[in-house]
This record gives sequence, structure tokens and C-alpha cells, in this order.
Amino acid sequence: MRTHYCGLIDEALIGETVTLCGWADVARDLGGVCFIDLRDHEGIVQIVAEPSDAAGNAEVVATAVQVGYEDCLRITGTVRRRHSPNAKIPTGQVEVVATAIEIVNKAAPLPFHAHENPGEETRLKYRYLDLRRPEMQRMQRTRIKLVQALRRYLDGRGFQDIETPILTKATPEGARDFLVPARMHPGEFYALPQSPQLFKQILMVAGFDRYYQVARCFRDEALRADRQLEFTQLDIEFAWVREQDVQDAVEDMIRAVFKEVVDVDLVESFPRMTWAEAMRRYGSDKPDLRIDLELVDVAERVKDSDFAVFSTAANDPDGRVAALRIPGGARLSRKQIDEYAAHAAKYGAKGLAYAKIDDAGAVNSPVAKFFDEAEFAALLAQVGAANGDIVFFGAGAYGKVSDFMGAVRLKAGKDFGLVAAGWKPLWVTDFPMFEWDADDQRYVALHHPFTAPAVDDIADLRTHAKTAVSRGYDMVLNGNEIGGGSIRIHRPDMQSAVFELLGIGADEAEAKFGFLLDALKYGAPPHGGIAFGIDRIAALMAGTESIRDVIPFPKTTGAQCLMTGAPSPIPDAQLAEVHVAVRPKE
Ligand code: AMO
Ligand code: AMP
Repeated sequence: MRTHYCGLIDEALIGETVTLCGWADVARDLGGVCFIDLRDHEGIVQIVAEPSDAAGNAEVVATAVQVGYEDCLRITGTVRRRHSPNAKIPTGQVEVVATAIEIVNKAAPLPFHAHENPGEETRLKYRYLDLRRPEMQRMQRTRIKLVQALRRYLDGRGFQDIETPILTKATPEGARDFLVPARMHPGEFYALPQSPQLFKQILMVAGFDRYYQVARCFRDEALRADRQLEFTQLDIEFAWVREQDVQDAVEDMIRAVFKEVVDVDLVESFPRMTWAEAMRRYGSDKPDLRIDLELVDVAERVKDSDFAVFSTAANDPDGRVAALRIPGGARLSRKQIDEYAAHAAKYGAKGLAYAKIDDAGAVNSPVAKFFDEAEFAALLAQVGAANGDIVFFGAGAYGKVSDFMGAVRLKAGKDFGLVAAGWKPLWVTDFPMFEWDADDQRYVALHHPFTAPAVDDIADLRTHAKTAVSRGYDMVLNGNEIGGGSIRIHRPDMQSAVFELLGIGADEAEAKFGFLLDALKYGAPPHGGIAFGIDRIAALMAGTESIRDVIPFPKTTGAQCLMTGAPSPIPDAQLAEVHVAVRPKE
């Protein structure tokens, strides 16, 4: 239907006849002369319909005046130099003088135009119109280029792309499973994979040595800007490796694709930080190192204070009292400080004490009264507070204080313009093996139950479970966890011991993971790997805050597809076929 793409018409084509297809981005009728911006996936070119021109004719102008927004057009014309060039678009030096205009398909009046952003609900309902917008085209293409670059990199290095099942048995990664009723087995269900974890491990047992897959994963969990119900991993596994082998290999890959896709040079060797250090300094297991603010532990200075909230936490071995100094923060109003407290409360804070030091050095703090003046001055001095600063304090359980003070740090970084430009990757290592779940009174795996502990000895692991460190690692970029992986357990006795520590009894382990325990018995090599969140990397590369922008058809935070209307009720007859009865809503 066409000879060229709109966005690629240039001065080399001046004088030539071209046929273009695309959408009417704008149509302007200037009384006799009509201008149409014709858009395809490559860009926009200006079309002119003018009766006076040698090439023009009345019929062309008559059609041009009928053109509406987003009509599908096929236009033939001659390329010529523009009288008034438009420096804003790549085709701005030229225009196409139409000799024929065909309205191929008329568009109904639009819910929104290509150059507006009408709010996400409307965009998602009419996703096809939203995706036509140049900004969305750009972001999708970034994702496409990323996946191409990743595949090219791995294909060139002997990795084998192997598909694993979508209808499978639950692979616990900590989220709820999506279930699919099995028609042939009344009362039984498949689960959609939360990740290909167990299959990739079994592929290593099966002798494939190096595997990758661009794998769709399904997790029924609360949605956020960086979480979707279904998302895409670049899933990788290696046999016969230690953590450094995996890390070196994938770090090189990430550097290569950032260079190729967005021309970014990431540092030669990513810094490494233990989980404990990340929590202590940044209150996060995915620290954003672009923000040059750090938490300071002040328990020693407040353990004898009259403020029970501080002294109790300071004297509790599992407690923490942390301070965060924000340079220039004294200008925060009472209301703004309350907003910080409300933000901290979302992360579990019961309160957020502060001390403001005005430009003359006077201290304003609701907790100063619990200290004598010299003590309080020493406390502020330890944090490095200067005139004009504010210091926030958090006290309570170690994990909770770290979380909410980490959140306060991120908010302050944004609010005070302290997020430096550029890219700050790092590895976070030495995660705890287990986390104590106080509600269920049992340990849960911090990564997943297949991650190897740093110790080889089962008795040792049992005695020191609370403080045991795992062989897991995360890659973090600008405060986002972009990948997570580990060296796996490859011995069946160790795997059984870890299940036991997680409160999974022998029978349950056999029922759920018997196939894995079996596979580990028959000569499983040491192995390990990682999975990257492709949506998150694409969002970072595209410069957007939400992974929904780089997923063509995402779900809303309410877990719906506004375009198709999924999820939707199913007729009883169809449910009966799969032996499912719906309980009335509670
Ligand atoms: P993990 O659960 O850390 O590890 O997932 C790996 C990476 O996938 C991305 N990710 C998500 N992206 C969007 N929406 C979600 N809901 C979501 N959940 C995770 C993150 C994360 O770093 N089987 C292990 C990997 C391994 O051990 O090799 C796993 O799935 O970027
Ligand atoms: P109160 O005496 O309870 O009014 O608290 C005095 C100050 O301490 C207030 O600014 C509270 O926000 C703050 N505060 C209370 N609990 C905590 C906590 N767990 N961590 C930090 N600050 C707190």
C-alpha cells in the first residue's frame, strides 16, 4: 500500500513521488489550503493539499477538508522543501504535496487526542489509542530493544532458551497462586507459575548447563507501580557455579544492554553491600545510592534518656533508634513535618520525633525536654546536624524502624531535590536465610526455600537459624530491585532440613516438592542463577515511574484489564464443566 514511512521522509526524497499510510494527527483547513500531519510508527510528516499548485487539484482539497483526527489515510504526493521548516520534528525540512488522498477508514469522535494524556483509566480503556501516542510508542520500543539485546547477548554466549510450563504445580515465591481448575481431574487445580524456579533447577540436573527464558510469571499479590499480577522475568540458571560466577556474568550483560539500548555506561564493577549494611545505612534492602543521606544509629546516646520510646528500643537487642539528618530541613513547616510522620506511619511508625535547628542554632524539638541540654546537643552533634537542618528520629523494632526511616529518607531525597542524576547499581548480598513470622509463629524464607545457606553443615544451620545468612543476592539500580537470585541447595538432605526449619513437615514436603527432592538425589550439580524484572528494567530505561507504561496491556492497581473487562463472571454451565461452584460473596 505504501512506498515510504511518514517519519522517514527527508531531503534526499525532494522531487520524488511517495505513497504514505497513517493516521491524521492534525488537520488544519486554512481556507483553500489544507495541512495534515500524517503519523505512522516512524513519526510525522506534513501533507499539503492546495488547489493552486501544479500538482494540486480540487478533488484533493475537497477530500482533505473532510479529514478528521485519527482517520486512516493513504496519501500520494510529491516531496518538496518547506517554506517554513519545523526544527521540532525530524521531517521538518520537507512536506508532501498531495496528488491523491484516500480516507481508508474514518475514525469516530475520539475519547482523547494523540497529544493529550487524559488520565490512566481512559488510557487503559482505549489502550490502542493510548499506544498510538508517540510517547507510548517510544516506551514500548525501549522494551522491545531491551529484550532483543538480552536475547542476542545470551544466545551469543551459549545459553539455551528453554520453555517451561504455564500450567503447573505451585512454585512458592511468597505470593498467592493463580489457580486453574483441571477439567479432567475434578477438584484438582493447576497453578500458574510464580516463576520457573523449580523447572530451571531441574534443567540443570538434566544437563543443560546454562539456561535462559523470557518468562511470564504470575503472582496474586497487591499491585503497585512496580508490581503487576503477571510480569516478565529474564530467568537465568547456570550449573557448576559459585555466586561470583553468576554475578560477574550477569553484571556484564546488564552493562552491555544499558550501553546498547540507552547508551548508558554503568560503572565497571558494581559496588557490593551486605544486607545488614544496607539496612543499617539506608533502611532498605534496595538502597537508592543516588541520595546522599544516611541513617545514624544513636541508641548509645539515648539509652538512659527519660523518653521511654527511645530508651526501651535502645536497650532492646532487637530494637533500633535511628536518626536521619536532612540538610536545610529546618524550613519544613509543622504541616510538612506531619506529612513526614504520616508517610512513616504507612511503614509502621508509631511516631516520628524530630529536632529542627534554626539558622541561629536554636533547637525546636518535642523530645528535647526528655534530655538535658548538653546531652541533646551531643546527640545532634553525633548526627552532624548544623544550623538550618532537621533531624528525624525513629525508635522501635529494628526492622520496622529501618523500613520507616528508609521511607523517610527516600521522601526527603525527592522533596529536597537530593536525588543525583545518573545510575547507581549495586549488589546486595548476605541476606538472612529466614525471617521470623510473628503472626504464624514460624520462619519464612527471605528469598525462597531453595536458596542455599552460607553454611554447609545442617546441624550448624539448625542451631543458628535465626542469624543464618543465605547465598542469595539482589541487583539494585537507583533504588529498584531489578534482579534477584541465589546459589541453590543441591543436596536433598539440606533441602529437607530447610523445609523442616520452614515448618514444612516431611509429608507436606513430599506432597509438594517430592519431585524436586527426587531430582536432587540423582546427581544434581551445584547450581545457581538469577531472574531480572524485565518490566522494571524497561521502565528505568524509558524513564517512567510505572511499569504499566512499558507493558502493552497492563492491569490496573485494582487488578482489572479495563479494555477487555477481565476478570469477568463465567456462566454456570461452563463452571460445571470444570467442577467449580462459586461461593456467595462473604
Ligand atoms: P524474585 O521473586 O526476586 O525472584 O523475582 C525476580 C525479579 O522479578 C521482578 N519482579 C516483579 N516485577 C513486576 N511485578 C512483580 N509482581 C514482580 N515480582 C518480581 C523483580 C525481581 O527482582 N525465582 C526467583 C529468581 C531466582 O532465584 O533465580 C524469583 O522469582 O525485578
Ligand atoms: P509523645 O510524647 O508520644 O507525644 O511523643 C513525642 C514525640 O516522639 C512525637 O514527636 C512523636 O511523633 C515521637 N515518637 C513517638 N513514638 C515514636 C517512635 N516510635 N519513633 C520515633 N518517634 C516517636
